[in-house]
Amino acid sequence: MDIALRNAAKEFMVRYGGDAFPNLFVSAKGTIVRDDTGREILDFTSGQMCATIGHNHPAIVEAVNRAGEKAYHMFSGMIPEVVAELAQTVARDWMPERLTKSIFVNTGSESNEVALRMAKMFTGGYEILSVGGSWHGITGGSGAISFASDRKGYGVPTPGVFVMPEPNAYRPYIQADTEEASALACLELGLKMFDMQSSGKGAAIIIEPIISAGGVLVPPKAYMQALRRAADARGMLLIFDEAQTAFGRIGHRTGSEFFGVVPDIMTVSKTLGGGLPMAGTITTSAIEENIHKKGFTYYTSHVSDPLLGEVGLAVLRVLQDEQLVARAGSIGGYLRERLLELQQRYDAIGDVRGEGLLLGVELVQDRESRIPDHDLGARTTKKCFEKGLSMNIRRRPERGSVWRIAPPLTVTRDEIDRATAILDESLRESLDERARSRAA
Ligand SMILES: Cc1ncc(COP(=O)(O)O)c(C=O)c1O
Repeated sequence: MDIALRNAAKEFMVRYGGDAFPNLFVSAKGTIVRDDTGREILDFTSGQMCATIGHNHPAIVEAVNRAGEKAYHMFSGMIPEVVAELAQTVARDWMPERLTKSIFVNTGSESNEVALRMAKMFTGGYEILSVGGSWHGITGGSGAISFASDRKGYGVPTPGVFVMPEPNAYRPYIQADTEEASALACLELGLKMFDMQSSGKGAAIIIEPIISAGGVLVPPKAYMQALRRAADARGMLLIFDEAQTAFGRIGHRTGSEFFGVVPDIMTVSKTLGGGLPMAGTITTSAIEENIHKKGFTYYTSHVSDPLLGEVGLAVLRVLQDEQLVARAGSIGGYLRERLLELQQRYDAIGDVRGEGLLLGVELVQDRESRIPDHDLGARTTKKCFEKGLSMNIRRRPERGSVWRIAPPLTVTRDEIDRATAILDESLRESLDERARSRAA
């Protein structure tokens, strides 16, 4: 451990929010990250939900080396061969039929900026309807349409943004007989409010197929179908932000495939770059043609960079060669079973939800009241880390205490068994500790 470097991090780095560890980190391979004490930690968030094929997969390392021999970067008007091949592979092998035209940029936030610019130019409108609990990024446009992140303190957000209540089966805003009826009632109310406020210049409705930062909420299929109809009825485009759901994580090629609903624009990022800053926005040829004629521009320093083309192609090949999409479904099922077993033993586990290897575990004070248990979440997450398991907990007073569990698609049963044993032990110790301190 290099204390001087730990101090340097404190002295010279801006603190950028979120939970930060006191340790520094040195390497990552597969499901394991190693810290500056040499400790191995199971990474059950795939970094920032990006390393779907495992950290530093040899195919990614080779891709980076290949780009080193050919080119990392080019003038943005020079389309590298490898980027043309990536666009073709994305369209032919991964997207729903209508989505054939891609642009490749660097981050999820940026992919959504592209989508918003496309939708505004195509429709001539500017209003964007988003859902509560959404996270689409932190740049100007993407941050303005995000409602899981902190919006306060950064000045005037982009005008024309509307929010409607998200479908949350565990904490429904509107009680109804079924999960589906409750979700549809939220949508109906949200649309009514939007229609009341709209100046008639609707551009798009945007949603993550699984609302991840909002607590890993999986809307009913009928909700997504109704959203498609709602967009069409208003002449707005439907955008799916598939930063986390595209390319296999949920056991399907995309969230669009899972829901059987095709958006007009899909944004992808984390799961395409496999850990490198790679993102894309994919739309139909009709929309692309329309906005091109109107002068559409999204010209940046790193659009279509060959380095990221090599990496994206490598990630997609590994997903196919190692059959990781199907694996996410099967091994995700195994992980879910282990979590459900824990739920049977701990009253504090209120809900286990999600799809494939994007799972959410919600902690409550007791199942009856469903009051979020933020203290238990914080204690247990810390203990897990000390015992060698890194987990991400979303803790916001208004939306519960939810672990987002998303290990690489290459995670083994043995790693899942180790992780759930650590979780079990950490939960038990946290609950015992708290009971002792309350008794004292
Ligand atoms: C669904 C979704 N969209 C967009 C983003 C923003 O991506 P980035 O952080 O790469 O800008 C995130 C990041 O967490 C996300 O989860």
